Amino acid sequence: MISTKTMKMLVAGAALGLTASAALAETNLRVFVSSQHRPDVWRKAFDMYQEARPDVKITIETGGNTSEQQAQYLNTVMTAKDSSLDVMILDVIRPAQYAAAGWTVPFNAVIGGDIGLYMKGYLPAYAEANTVDGKVVALPAFADAMFLYYRKDLLEKHGVEPPTTWDELAAAAKKITAAENDPNLQGLSFQGKAIEGAVCTFLLPYWSMGKNLVSEGKLTFDKEAAVKALKLWKDFVDAGVAKKNIAEVATDDTRKEFQAGNVVFAVNWSYAWGQFQGAESAVKDKVGVVKLPAVAGGEPVSCLGGWEWGVSAYSKNATEAANFVQFLSSPKISKFMAVNAALLPQFPEVYTDPEVTKAVPWFAEAKPVVETARARPVTPRYNEVSEIIRTTVNAVLAGTMTPEDGASQMEARLRRVLR
Ligand code: GLC
Repeated sequence: MISTKTMKMLVAGAALGLTASAALAETNLRVFVSSQHRPDVWRKAFDMYQEARPDVKITIETGGNTSEQQAQYLNTVMTAKDSSLDVMILDVIRPAQYAAAGWTVPFNAVIGGDIGLYMKGYLPAYAEANTVDGKVVALPAFADAMFLYYRKDLLEKHGVEPPTTWDELAAAAKKITAAENDPNLQGLSFQGKAIEGAVCTFLLPYWSMGKNLVSEGKLTFDKEAAVKALKLWKDFVDAGVAKKNIAEVATDDTRKEFQAGNVVFAVNWSYAWGQFQGAESAVKDKVGVVKLPAVAGGEPVSCLGGWEWGVSAYSKNATEAANFVQFLSSPKISKFMAVNAALLPQFPEVYTDPEVTKAVPWFAEAKPVVETARARPVTPRYNEVSEIIRTTVNAVLAGTMTPEDGASQMEARLRRVLR
């Protein structure tokens, strides 16, 4: 049904010689997308919506190459109650915090009906991360987890199988780097800089030993496991498996160094795969990806990542923005982004869709990894928790703190935040 108002605009537009879509453009939505996650492909998804809804015009704003930079920018926008942004993509660790700050509008009214049932369509971890006290505070944009990338060509050349424990990885890395005798070749790259990703660096081996950091909002810190987790990474540096200045390495440094052909094994998020397969990559078609190794005697575990669409509480078009987000967070767009941008689906069935498995064959194996990935603690004080963990990891790797002191300080500081 075309409303009388729209009709009048169409007539006026025709009189002025405007195209129908220009005449209809009544709602402008401005959307923030992280520059790291294929804004060029998101733009195409936005265009699909515009085609179906010529009365909505969507502009894209990109920024911040890291989770921290984006958070910093969005914090400024939200604190200023700036109404220019309608929709924003948020790291999975933030919806709870944004909801607590009153920065996002819940989707319940727009979804209508049985909210629990609606959210059941998504992988459970995302339904959980986006639901706070019965309110759907954001809707999943795409899934993410950490994986072990490896040089298929080098492992084959040296007769090495992909490792299943960190000890096997150290042995494999030593064997390959010694035989290659290339001073630029690193055995393992991971994130030691004091960034958000370093929280996962700590949690991977800690969780692998079967330990929880937080249970029901309470700290359940296991000091012995924490020492071991910190020591595991430091030992890689001391043994020459990882480079000396790993404390300066951020997520995209690992990606770039591996992509340039200078790394045998890399711990990284799923976005790296698409880049490794790009035209300018030195490792195109030479990359394998498997689940992360376990601590000997423990279970393999990954860190849950992912990004969510939130509607700003200061948007002047909140309902229209929420409708648009529902479209973006649909199986159709999930599949489109998987095929065209290699972003992991938030819907279980999309992983095995024939077009998806054709475009990104490894997604079939990625599904169980995403499904068993563990979430970083969900708390409105997450920023402080993150800061404590990442600065400790960094100090231990920089050699300014022992793993023992690191674990003690981490525990004492976390206790003050999570009482
Ligand atoms: C990835 C993950 C995100 C995580 C970030 C850390 O983008 O999806 O959840 O916090 O990396 O750098």
